[in-house]
Formats: sequence, C-alpha cells, structure tokens
Amino acid sequence: MSQPIVELRNVTVRYGDLPPALENVNLSIPEGAFLAVFGPNGAGKTTLVRAILGLIEPTEGEIRVFGRRPRELGALRREIGYVPQILAVDLHFPVRVRDVVMMGRYARIGLFRRPGKRDREIVQAVMEKVDVADLADRHIADLSGGQRQRVFLARALATEPRLLVLDEPTTGVDTKASRSLYELLQDLHREGITVIMVSHDIGVVSEYVDGVVCVNRRVLAHGRPEVVLTDSTLADMYGCQAVLFHHGKVPHMVVKPEEWEK
Ligand SMILES: Nc1ncnc2c1ncn2[C@@H]1O[C@H](COP(=O)(O)OP(=O)(O)OP(=O)(O)O)[C@@H](O)[C@H]1O
Ligand SMILES: [Mg+2]
Repeated sequence: MSQPIVELRNVTVRYGDLPPALENVNLSIPEGAFLAVFGPNGAGKTTLVRAILGLIEPTEGEIRVFGRRPRELGALRREIGYVPQILAVDLHFPVRVRDVVMMGRYARIGLFRRPGKRDREIVQAVMEKVDVADLADRHIADLSGGQRQRVFLARALATEPRLLVLDEPTTGVDTKASRSLYELLQDLHREGITVIMVSHDIGVVSEYVDGVVCVNRRVLAHGRPEVVLTDSTLADMYGCQAVLFHHGKVPHMVVKPEEWEK
C-alpha cells in the first residue's frame, strides 16, 4: 500500500492545563480519500484539523503529512488547501471576490510576484466551478454568508491542492447549495484530490464520502460510512441515544424522541 497522505500516531493535544482536547488519536488517511470528520461541539475536530496543518503542535505523539512533520512541509505546504471554520478576514477591508480568490494563487506564486495570465485563468475557472463568477467584482463584505463560504472554497481551490481540508464549509449554506458543494467535492475527489471535511451534516454527507471518522476527544470509529455509523457509535459520540434509520444505502440519524423531553 502507498504511504498515507496524513498519519497521526498516539496524538494528544492539550490547551494549557485543561483536559486534553484530543487524546491518543491514531489515524491513517490514504491518498485519494474523501473523509468526513463527525463529532459534537467541542469534540476536538477543529483541533485535529489545526494539528494536521501544523497550526498547533501536539503535546504528545507524531503527525506526518506527505510523510513529513506539518511544520517541516516547506514547499509542500502549497499542496494543501484549507477552508477554516471561522474565517479570519476583516470584512471591513474593501476587497473584491476576485482578489480573495487570487490570494489562493499567492500561496503558489509567492507574495512578491505578480500573478500572470495562467493565474488569472485559474481564478476565473475556480470561481465558475463554485458558482461565484458573477460576484467577481463585488466586495466580500457585501455577500451573504453562504456566498462568502463559496468564495473561500474558491480561494482554497485556486491553490490547486493535492489535499483539501474544510472545517464545516456549509455553515450558513442552504440545503441545495450544500449539496452542490458536496457534489463539487466529490468531483475533486474523483480527480484524485484527497478531501477531509469536518461536518455536522451526518446524514447527507455520508452519501458522498467514502470514509468517516467519529471523534469525541478520542477516535470512536473510522471506516466506511455504512459500517461506522451504527447506533452505538453515535450514542458514544453524542452521549445520547441516537438511532439510525436506513434510507437506501444511507443511514440517517435521529435522536430518540425521549431525549427531546429531558
Ligand atoms: N485556543 C484554545 N484554548 C483553550 N481551549 C481550546 C482552544 N481551542 C479549543 N479549545 C477547547 O478544546 C476543545 C475542542 O475544541 P475544538 O474547537 O477542536 O472542537 P470542535 O469539535 O471543532 O467543536 P465545534 O463543533 O464547536 O466546532 C473544546 O473543549 C474547546 O473549548
Ligand atoms: Mg470546530
């Protein structure tokens, strides 16, 4: 088997003296995977993503991305596209959609080189792909939340990543637009890009991905969605009685009615 694109061995992450946000996580993600990361609020999903990207250092254990420590990736860092959960942009800064997407190209060409024809073509192509080309000259501050999310996906795609990491990319995005985003990610996956996506949209996302990781401080399960998403995994993960009912090949989750009454 080829080397995994991302590998975590006995990874524990602590913030100060708090109980660990992640504890003894082992995870091996093969190149070409389309993986969903599920888990309740505070489960450590963003922590996992930030550790993979080298934005935080694990307290214990080892992480390898493309076979290297995340902080020693060097030029390989350009092969990673990242759509963070909370977008760190100053919305009062008057920047147009096209410029935001071009920021993704600067990751490739360096900050001090001017973008060329090919860069502009790629920016145009990815804007069309995520359906924001008609917004190209609008200011980012003037967009709706869902439109803005798609612009940040375009920015990540403009880097032409080998590994795309998205942390809850459909927050504030309507059902139809979420589905079109998942379809787009599925196309990228078919082109060979490895996609890791944190999501709360268990039922729908499970239709698209080929792997699921359930996290709640620890990895509770990892495997194909139809195998992993069992009642007991979900109960462990959410600490409540959840049940799945099967609709075609896809499991859908509902929380047992008595849980609502507590
Ligand atoms: N910078 C930080 N300093 C201290 N504690 C933190 C920090 N970031 C996260 N935590 C804590 O670590 C735990 C995991 O947080 P994390 O953001 O990884 O959860 P998450 O699974 O992404 O949750 P959500 O679904 O709400 O995004 C939480 O208890 C959180 O309060
Ligand atoms: Mg998070």
